[in-house]
Amino acid sequence: MDAFRSVIRGVGHHVPAHVVTNSDLSQWMDTSDEWIVERTGIRERRFIEPGTTTSDLALPAIEMACQRAGIRPQECDLLIAATLSPDYFFPGIGTVLQHKLVMSHVPAIDLRAQCSGLIYSLATADAYIRAGMAKRILIVCSEVQSPILDKTNRGRDMAVLFGDGAGALVVEAQSCNTHERPSAKNMISGVIDSAMGGDGAGAHLLFLKAPGSVVKGFMTQEAMDAGDIHPKMDGRVVFKNAVTRMTEVATTILERNGVSPSDVDLVLPHQANLRINEAVREKLGIAEDRVFNNIQKYGNTTAATIPICMSEAFEQGKLRQGQMVLTLAFGAGFTWGSNLIRW
Ligand code: ACO
Repeated sequence: MDAFRSVIRGVGHHVPAHVVTNSDLSQWMDTSDEWIVERTGIRERRFIEPGTTTSDLALPAIEMACQRAGIRPQECDLLIAATLSPDYFFPGIGTVLQHKLVMSHVPAIDLRAQCSGLIYSLATADAYIRAGMAKRILIVCSEVQSPILDKTNRGRDMAVLFGDGAGALVVEAQSCNTHERPSAKNMISGVIDSAMGGDGAGAHLLFLKAPGSVVKGFMTQEAMDAGDIHPKMDGRVVFKNAVTRMTEVATTILERNGVSPSDVDLVLPHQANLRINEAVREKLGIAEDRVFNNIQKYGNTTAATIPICMSEAFEQGKLRQGQMVLTLAFGAGFTWGSNLIRW
């Protein structure tokens, strides 16, 4: 035994109880159920009750993941938290959660990769485990986005897309021999590989400007009046980049591991737009029933989409031992990536 592999021991999720339908949104802005469903696939999303923080929302998801893993959070020796909507501007939610979970003084990493948050977090967890630097890692992805949306006509292109939600994973180190690492050639469970990319040229094409150092004074009345406290994007450019990069990164990770698209049992894609996922699926030549989508119910919960999909797929019996699973995402940054996992 001279190596370590990273095994997902438990996965959990949590969404707020408050359902906001497309018709609810049409009372605040000029939009319709028909437009939203046709362009995005989204029918409803969940919004927090005022006062719920991003770390609060994460706690039930963590509890579910730990229960399924048969451990307590305190038995983890590293916490990785991904969000674009933290409780505070700083610090991130990593140490806030570590304190709420009474996880002693374990290190907490805040990872900013937006919609690719779970993929970058799992790749980081896998690297720590392979290096022998951690034995059991709690990954948390949580987003409270409803309060930052511009729910007027000015922000309707963004406001109809997003929801609040959280997901969590317990990733554990298992000893193995170097020649027994998880791969496409064997049935050993664990993370096989991760591939990621980024392109800061797209930073201003999907972003939230204020508060930030590009605004003189970080946050000004002028920035508030200009709507810079709400996320903005160039939807068409983001859409095209998402399809291209997700297809590219999936092809890269599958090819370099000798996996053909038909060998993939389940794809867990980021949930930004059903049409994006459909275009990527078609380009890769993967069967429709092998792609898990739930954007219809939750909208885009950014870093939380993939762990929520993973947790629901697990509950529905769609994730079984030995299956080949592919995660896939594109988001603000721009960032993109994929993990190949033997479940
Ligand atoms: N309701 C009704 N009409 C609307 C709405 C709305 N909510 N929003 C925009 N429109 C109008 C526009 O004003 C435009 O009107 P016009 O033709 O009179 O000018 C028309 O609808 C078409 O607008 P487009 O922007 O061209 O519509 P498109 O088909 O591109 O769909 C969408 C827009 C859904 C936003 C799409 O571009 C998209 O999904 N982009 C990618 C989103 C994404 O992936 N984001 C990344 C993740 S987010 C993250 O990482 C944080």
